[in-house]
Amino acid sequence: MPYTWETLKTECLACRNCELCETRHNVVFGVGKTDAKVMFIGEGPGENEDLQGEPFVGRGGQLLDKYLAHIDLSRDENIYIANIVKCRPPKNRDPREEEQAACTPWLREQVKLLRPKIIVCLGRIAAQYIIRPDFRVTKEHGVFYERNGTLLMGTYHPAALLRNPAQKPDTLSDFCALREKITELGL
Ligand code: URA
Repeated sequence: MPYTWETLKTECLACRNCELCETRHNVVFGVGKTDAKVMFIGEGPGENEDLQGEPFVGRGGQLLDKYLAHIDLSRDENIYIANIVKCRPPKNRDPREEEQAACTPWLREQVKLLRPKIIVCLGRIAAQYIIRPDFRVTKEHGVFYERNGTLLMGTYHPAALLRNPAQKPDTLSDFCALREKITELGL
């Protein structure tokens, strides 16, 4: 039986496919409009996300929401946000390859249900998993790559911008390029 959003979420919330399930408080399934044409994909939940069960709700998430608002996007209205791994890696370490492999079937089903026209990868981990293993955010941010009718783009992770504000102007221009693409495609 193909998944519906409801059955997918129910199964995902009970997932025990990797050891991150032992330390999580909540599975962070994803949030947003299930008819969105634009999907954002991050790396994995941090502390706040783990506690609240929603992606990008910490300081980085607030910054992301500002960039989104600047180009008339919001999780309440017209985008969907999910992560590569749905459970917080302890101490916010990078998710291990086997954790990513165990978790991405959930993401794949989310993409299948959503059928986004544009996927924006937030940060290196997401971009290397989704776009290309040797993707370099510093060199390739803001570039749209086409794959099977979907446009893929990588940009800086909001947490990286908090650490390194010098990357903010590039990020803003990536978001403006995204707005132009959305308008061009009439999404
Ligand atoms: N960082 C991510 O990559 N995802 C979140 O949900 C929060 C922080």
